[in-house]
Amino acid sequence: MTNKLLFLAGVLLLSVVALTQSSTSTAAPEYTADGKLKLPEQYREWVYLSTGLDMSYTADGNADHHMFDNVFVNPESYKKFKETGTWPDKTMLVLEVRGAESRASINQRGNFQSGEVMGIEVHIKDEAKFPNGKWAFFGFDDGKVGNLFPAGASCYSCHQSHGAVDTTFVQFYPTLMPIAKEKTTLSAAYLKESAQEKK
Ligand code: HEC
Repeated sequence: MTNKLLFLAGVLLLSVVALTQSSTSTAAPEYTADGKLKLPEQYREWVYLSTGLDMSYTADGNADHHMFDNVFVNPESYKKFKETGTWPDKTMLVLEVRGAESRASINQRGNFQSGEVMGIEVHIKDEAKFPNGKWAFFGFDDGKVGNLFPAGASCYSCHQSHGAVDTTFVQFYPTLMPIAKEKTTLSAAYLKESAQEKK
């Protein structure tokens, strides 16, 4: 009898643990009534993909200050990517921009990231909400709610024609690129572009 009770108590405890764990890692996109995206505030607990330093898309434009951009993805989608080499519905990728600082504390050379976030952008796949391209971009100027970039914005065309997997820049995410190669999910446009580069 006591054994049985202990067993039941154990099962109950495990279910509670499982429930709380799934609720902290599940991240479904949330929108406001007027179609803005709510910031997934726990994104810093998501999977880290990479940091770009001073990345620029034009040959000129030598900025007078350095910038970092950090990319995070929700854990469920990362897991799916590992299995399939591409993104499932409800994927959210967060790009967080921070300034570069130098010479503080014991640092003499090189740069570290500023405490202040200078900008956040989200690239989200939501097939029901965005039936045309499946993906949309949001910019968070004021922090908590993001405005949708309209379909004609340059975000869509650049990501579409240069992103290595499903309009995302997997070629710059070192843990994902080998998976995409193995699962042969690299886009035709990207393969063509990289073949031309090698010539
Ligand atoms: C000329 C090309 C280009 C344009 C235009 C562009 N991006 Fe990107 N974007 C990139 C590159 C390259 C990366 C990879 C950056 C890195 O590794 O840090 C990226 C990464 C991102 C990411 C991280 C997730 C992903 O899809 O890989 C987000 C979010 C993002 N961009 C948002 C935007 C938004 C919003 C706009 C429009 C306002 C925009 N981008 C316009 C080239 C572009």
